Amino acid sequence: MGEGSRNVFWQVGSVSREDREARRGHRGCVLWFTGLSASGKSTLASHVEQRLFDEGYFTYMLDGDNVRHGLCTDLGFSHEDRTENIRRVGEVAKLFAEAGAIVATAFISPYRADRDHVRDLMSRDGDFVEVFVSCPLEVCEHRDPKGLYERARAGEIRDFTGIDAPYELPEAAELVVETQDREISECVDQIIAYLRQHGYIEAAVSRASSLS
Ligand SMILES: Nc1ncnc2c1ncn2[C@@H]1O[C@H](COP(=O)(O)OP(=O)(O)OP(=O)(O)O)[C@@H](O)[C@H]1O
Ligand SMILES: [Mg+2]
Repeated sequence: MGEGSRNVFWQVGSVSREDREARRGHRGCVLWFTGLSASGKSTLASHVEQRLFDEGYFTYMLDGDNVRHGLCTDLGFSHEDRTENIRRVGEVAKLFAEAGAIVATAFISPYRADRDHVRDLMSRDGDFVEVFVSCPLEVCEHRDPKGLYERARAGEIRDFTGIDAPYELPEAAELVVETQDREISECVDQIIAYLRQHGYIEAAVSRASSLS
């Protein structure tokens, strides 16, 4: 517990998570996309969010690059800073889930302990859906949409996951999505199907029509 938390109490609000979820008509949760740079986390998280949003769900996306411009602007890429990055983002994702949102997060989150910490943070079983975006390093390096692998190989970027920093494979991810040689839409279908099968969203596409 940090110094500052010692004299701080938990203030209970009068609107509960259940109240918020009842109004929205669905539960909140966190879809935690993890994988190498260029594996497809941001691409899939944003497509999944769009699909859910179009179906009428309350959604939010948290992306690694974006939070490093604000919430985590003070952090670098050492093991310690990556852990703190994920801790903060995990807390934010939890708040959104408790507000009733289906949160899609896109962070490399290379350390198993950090991902497990976020899983343990959640207040309800099933809140954390770990989505391992699986793609061989060579394919990610070939995609290199931001030119980062090239710079890492040239020694211009240090501590780059997969090159000179580790990626610890998930051992019990709820979902493994292979992105090599697969269409984005096929991967999105796989994730949406999981959410339907496990009751996170309705079994049939029926919400969008009831909104208009
Ligand atoms: N099946 C697929 N799913 C997702 N992305 C794919 C797929 N096939 C090809 N791609 C391409 O792979 C690239 C993935 O880039 P993206 O920015 O989503 O990666 P990322 O995992 O978010 O990386 P970073 O950690 O650097 O943010 C995109 O150019 C995307 O078009
Ligand atoms: Mg990304």
